[in-house]
Amino acid sequence: MKITKTTMPKSKPPVDKLGFGKYFTDHMLIMDFEDGKWKEPEIVPYAPFAMDPSTSILHYGQGIFEGLKAYKNKEGKITLFRALDNFKRMNNGCARMCMPKLDIDVVYNALVELILLEKDWIPTDPGTSLYIRPTLIATDTQLGVSSGTKYRFFIILSPVGSYYSTGLKPTKILIEDKYVRAPLGGTGEVKCMGNYAASLLSGDIAKKKGYSQVLWMDSNEHKYVEEVGAMNMFFVFDGVVKTPALVGSILPGITRDSVIKILKSENIPIEETRISIDDIKKGFENGTLNEAFGTGTAAVVSPVGVLGFNGKDFEINSGKMGKITEYLYDRLTGIQVGRYPDPFGWVIPIN
Ligand code: PLP
Ligand code: COI
Repeated sequence: MKITKTTMPKSKPPVDKLGFGKYFTDHMLIMDFEDGKWKEPEIVPYAPFAMDPSTSILHYGQGIFEGLKAYKNKEGKITLFRALDNFKRMNNGCARMCMPKLDIDVVYNALVELILLEKDWIPTDPGTSLYIRPTLIATDTQLGVSSGTKYRFFIILSPVGSYYSTGLKPTKILIEDKYVRAPLGGTGEVKCMGNYAASLLSGDIAKKKGYSQVLWMDSNEHKYVEEVGAMNMFFVFDGVVKTPALVGSILPGITRDSVIKILKSENIPIEETRISIDDIKKGFENGTLNEAFGTGTAAVVSPVGVLGFNGKDFEINSGKMGKITEYLYDRLTGIQVGRYPDPFGWVIPIN
């Protein structure tokens, strides 16, 4: 693979200032699709793209992305978490968005080379990691609305700390009762860019009201909860963990799947089911709603302390992180950083 190294390496950000997705490493990976095939991937210095103003991604948003993480321990061992699952999901997104599928071996090997080149950028403090953002965009320069013939795949890397500025403190989430994220038959189950653009208005309104994100409801009946903008949701009712079933409008989260598998391996009851807003209200009123938490690559396992609905706040577990949430946070991050053994085969050592 062709590698062009930067002549102007950047200084690394202080670890306590990382936050999420604010700093980017010195290099990125690019790979173009033209004349019906993918070209060789290349590593180049991190730099802006020059784009013709008619480039189709800028108009019609034919683009998808992924999010995964690399970790480095104090001894310098670098691992990836379930990377192949991210590329498989990206290929499902390609099919839905009329984009050419990636050769998973090629992009995986190229990613490993990029990470090894940038290994000094991987933070090692607890709660930190290197966030990896593979992205695929349509690059034809024409204004007709049709699937393209030219695409660019790229990967950028960002050393990160906590996704929420509040860290592991339970968040306040507003249940959205007006706008919807994804109808059945839409693009909710793939990570296409438009899903996120369409969610911004609700997010802004929620933030003005003091909530950090919204919990979307189904588009048909506005009755069943689905997911949060960057997380799948779990609720604990009377010791039974429940998460909305993947009905077609919800992203099949890799952290969601990991949490389900950890729970099953520990014989903790877990159900993929429909969860109505009435179930949540009832569970709150009769005291059986013990915990709520979200899962995601960026968000990891994130406790929810308050659910707002219709002008009312439901405080869950007195606004504190629950036992199962804490257990899952510890188990998952422990497996990810090598603090616990990995019986699932999720952790991939790369050096
Ligand atoms: N739901 C949405 C809409 C997301 O953007 C994400 C983040 O990727 C998730 C759920 C969680 O998915 P994963 O655990 O694969 O990161
Ligand atoms: C991730 O968790 O990787 C995501 O893609 C969430 C993102 C929208 C910040």
